Amino acid sequence: MPARGRRREGGRKAKATLAGAESRGQGARLGPACGRGAQAPRARTAAPAGFANRVYEMDCMRGMRERLPEKSIDIIVTSPPYNIGVDYGMHDDAMPFDEYLGWMGEFGAICGRVLKDDGSLYFNIGDKASDEFRSFRVAQRIAGSLCLQNTLHWVKSIAIPEHGVNAGHFKPVNSRRYVNNCHEYIFHFTKSGSVPINKTAVGVPYADKSNIARWSHDNGDKRDRGNQWFIPYDTVVSKKDHPAAFPEKLPEMCIRLSGFGKSTVVLDPFLGSGTTCVAAARLGCRYVGFEIDPGHARASRERLLGAA
Ligand SMILES: C[S@@+](CC[C@H](N)C(=O)[O-])C[C@H]1O[C@@H](n2cnc3c(N)ncnc32)[C@H](O)[C@@H]1O
Repeated sequence: MPARGRRREGGRKAKATLAGAESRGQGARLGPACGRGAQAPRARTAAPAGFANRVYEMDCMRGMRERLPEKSIDIIVTSPPYNIGVDYGMHDDAMPFDEYLGWMGEFGAICGRVLKDDGSLYFNIGDKASDEFRSFRVAQRIAGSLCLQNTLHWVKSIAIPEHGVNAGHFKPVNSRRYVNNCHEYIFHFTKSGSVPINKTAVGVPYADKSNIARWSHDNGDKRDRGNQWFIPYDTVVSKKDHPAAFPEKLPEMCIRLSGFGKSTVVLDPFLGSGTTCVAAARLGCRYVGFEIDPGHARASRERLLGAA
């Protein structure tokens, strides 16, 4: 039976802690100081040995507090449970919404603790057709601790028949009033709102090649891709697969956008099938993952054996 009691206990505690943080002026209402001037990129320092390149089978809130030193993480890419009733095994994905918001607010605060000053949190979340504000309400709670620097759209499917494009996959909605939902958000949070990023690392070729000379820079035929990221799902889905995995290209693009090296430490607190850690390992970064469900944790460890 799913550990409903365990999750609820965590949720209540989360709410109480957030309330405490808010009353001390650290919480959602006041928020951080955002956009106070661009920061110079800082040298990436090597992480202390021990916690990196591991998947921890435990609650991520406890794990981030107990296992990760303050300011030890360069990049977090994650997709939390959306609280829409998905069966994840250990986690109850149908909390009262206020409780869920409190939990996410606490999550943002803990991310703020473990991120380096120039670190980034890429927070992927989707809406329900019947509640298009929920992603923003969650993002607002995270913004109690971190600054929203970019809002990216993960486009899963796109049809531009005028240009011969009809690509990607989506779950069709059976409704007379809602259109199919073909995108999700990736909210990019940082501590200052001014962390430099490497736009051309995920750039696209110019449509008009005369722009290469006009906007002369060192990147040749590469321009800023913008905030619409078309990343289709892989087509093969088996019953054994994780119910809510994102494509490996998603964390890969986030890591490239932030810039990375051998000492970069990438964290996914809601690891699921291990996609973020696999992407990080393939790029030669260090990784850390937390996953509460033993089956998913085991599956991601096995997947990581074949990565790197
Ligand atoms: C949306 S899925 C993440 C999927 C992942 N991005 C992937 O590509 O496979 C969320 C995951 O978080 C896990 N989870 C839920 N609550 C958790 C908690 N408190 N600590 C750690 N993991 C948790 C769930 O078991 C689930 O596997």
